[in-house]
Amino acid sequence: AIERTLSIIKPDAVAKNVIGQIYSRFENAGLKVIAAKMVHLSEVEAGQFYAVHKERPFFKDLVSFMISGPVMIQALEGENAILTNRELMGATDPSKAEKGTIRADFAQSIDANAVHGSDGADTAAAEIAFFFPGMQVYTR
Ligand code: CMP
Repeated sequence: AIERTLSIIKPDAVAKNVIGQIYSRFENAGLKVIAAKMVHLSEVEAGQFYAVHKERPFFKDLVSFMISGPVMIQALEGENAILTNRELMGATDPSKAEKGTIRADFAQSIDANAVHGSDGADTAAAEIAFFFPGMQVYTR
């Protein structure tokens, strides 16, 4: 089915000047950028976005990393977009990410891991609504 997912190019990858290379991977996999914005997140915004991780030991480091520089946020649309994007990204820990994935090629560490992508239909809808509140999202 045609789905939408939320993608974030994190501060490490923006600083490395690889936004275009990452967009090419989305496009070559059949994913279309249907909304996009570059933002320097505030601590409050980053904390709200990652609220599900609030009790995790890495929460503080995650928020401070995500506000360390601008991020590029996009909604992607395409066949099976959520899983397709997760396959493009590779494992959360870049040292465990398969060769040829975005994280294997561009990421340094589990914190500076280049990209975020929604992990399911419910989080995709919630994350797109969080950053693109005017957009209508149909999950079915
Ligand atoms: P992301 O997909 O953006 O979702 C939460 C982020 O927390 C994750 O990518 C990682 O960058 C970061 N993180 C740091 N440590 C961990 C960990 N042990 N497990 C999962 N995510 C972690």
